Amino acid sequence: VIPEALLYEAKAWKHCDKCRLSRTRRRVVYGSGRYAVPLVILGQAPGAEEDKTGKPFQGRAGKLIRKTFEDIGFDMEDAFTVNTVACFPPGNRAPVASEVNACRKLFDAAIRILQPSLILAVGAVPLTALTGEVGIGKHHGKMLPGYVFNDAGELEEFKALATFHPSGLLRSHSKERTAAFKQDLSLAVETVTG
Ligand code: URA
Repeated sequence: VIPEALLYEAKAWKHCDKCRLSRTRRRVVYGSGRYAVPLVILGQAPGAEEDKTGKPFQGRAGKLIRKTFEDIGFDMEDAFTVNTVACFPPGNRAPVASEVNACRKLFDAAIRILQPSLILAVGAVPLTALTGEVGIGKHHGKMLPGYVFNDAGELEEFKALATFHPSGLLRSHSKERTAAFKQDLSLAVETVTG
């Protein structure tokens, strides 16, 4: 059952025009997955495939993270997935700070409604949006405090863990980072199930 508050939020964002990404997107990609779950996965941005389907993590990067979770015995559908921006940045570029700031009420509200025991920040942009830290190479794989705002502008703290973005792994073919990615995902699963 979708929490009423989340349904309300998803509807409210359907026609959002708070930033320039709204001019080129096809669909607002709200979150998806299960709701009464301990894990929220915070991705970076929808890609071309997500822009078509309206669901996060559908393209090549999505397949890689889904498969890595599967290999460690976790079905990604058992988490709720949302991105730092809900609209496809043209050319698949990284979202810039003004776009993330325009969208932050969306993921902040989803996280507040779901109250996960862990947020997995997938990539450098979600790491910074959630924790204020910069540098995924330095900060991945560690439990960090993550912060979201409530409507009064006050901070609420959640447990956060960051990892590399699967698109970067697909580009670099770094064995070391791919192994670290799997280890980070395992730690996330252990934290929410163990
Ligand atoms: N698909 C998404 O929805 N988000 C990402 O960060 C990557 C792929």
